[in-house]
Amino acid sequence: MSQELCEMSLRQTQELLRLTDEALQDICCKRFTGEELSVKALQMVLKGKGRRGPACIYVAFNGKDKGLLCGRVYSLRDGEVVERSGEITIDTLADYARILVQAETRADVVISNKTVEMDQEFFPPAVKECVGDEISNFVTYRISGETTGAIIAFNYPGRATDYDADVLRGLAVVISSVFTISDQMRETEKAFIYTIESLARACEAAEEDTGRHIVRVNRYAGALAANFGLSADYVDVISYSAQMHDVGKIKVPASILLKDGPLNERELAVIRMHPAYGEQILGDSPRLQIAREIAISHHENWDGSGYPRGLRGDEIPLSGRIVKLADVYDALRSKRSYKSPLTHAEAVGIFRDGDHRIDPRNHFDPNLLAIFFRLEHMFESIYDSLTGEDL
Ligand SMILES: [Fe+2]
Ligand SMILES: [Fe+2]
Repeated sequence: MSQELCEMSLRQTQELLRLTDEALQDICCKRFTGEELSVKALQMVLKGKGRRGPACIYVAFNGKDKGLLCGRVYSLRDGEVVERSGEITIDTLADYARILVQAETRADVVISNKTVEMDQEFFPPAVKECVGDEISNFVTYRISGETTGAIIAFNYPGRATDYDADVLRGLAVVISSVFTISDQMRETEKAFIYTIESLARACEAAEEDTGRHIVRVNRYAGALAANFGLSADYVDVISYSAQMHDVGKIKVPASILLKDGPLNERELAVIRMHPAYGEQILGDSPRLQIAREIAISHHENWDGSGYPRGLRGDEIPLSGRIVKLADVYDALRSKRSYKSPLTHAEAVGIFRDGDHRIDPRNHFDPNLLAIFFRLEHMFESIYDSLTGEDL
């Protein structure tokens, strides 16, 4: 029997290991969903190879306040993991938490098959309530290190054993590393977005537009991409990459950028360098690939009459075609030294009939132009809701 249990726990631990290994590979190639991995791991342990799973498991981690653990009770329903409770917060200094922090034993694992009242008193009332049945046995595992927390599995069939504790330890390792990784990834992602926003803002500061041009361009570009049937991931990426379309302008002297009056040939040539400067500044980071594409191609025209490369049609990256349209709409609506702002209706009129600078049918991707006419009211509300300096 014990040989059999040992082999079973070994197989369960190997499965957890395989799951973690797959997740590590996923981290490299797609968006990491820590939640999905945690649920799969919980499911494996609760199923317990069909006959060795606990009735339910409480999983808790430290919240913002180090003295508190926040978690939920999970169990299986029709083979799927379900939350059996809302969030249950535990004060680690409370009497009932002694079993969780193991102040007395200092062991990571406690296995108990006692049903005496005393043990049951150690559980938070809310957790006990969720377990429902009498607690006949339990195994707790304390998570320490970078992430702290506790995992308690209740009511194994028969007795809780060392083998069950081994499996639970495996589960704790998987869940706590997922928690740490996704936490750090979130932080890294936030830092990344913050950095690119600062870069985009620094470049915008050199221009006369003190409004929220770049924020609005992000939004229009996201709306166009979503309505073009592009994936949620792409919509996400273009919604933060669009703001960097003019980063190259940081290398254009303010005397030219802010010049009051028409630019001469030489000055125009300098301004027209900004797509190439932008491409250079954004470098070769894979995370900035779309931003780089946009920077270099947002002044290309559908008919090949744009700059800097004179690309035409599908040769122009889709991201560049999207941001071009968004950028032109916003430029029309905004005040510039050489022009006053247009109303939404006037801007839409130019998208329909053109003017001395814009030839919509030859400059824009016709499919995107059609989407613009469908979405024009959304453009108007984005502009109206993101205007002014105090945003
Ligand atoms: Fe530009
Ligand atoms: Fe712009």
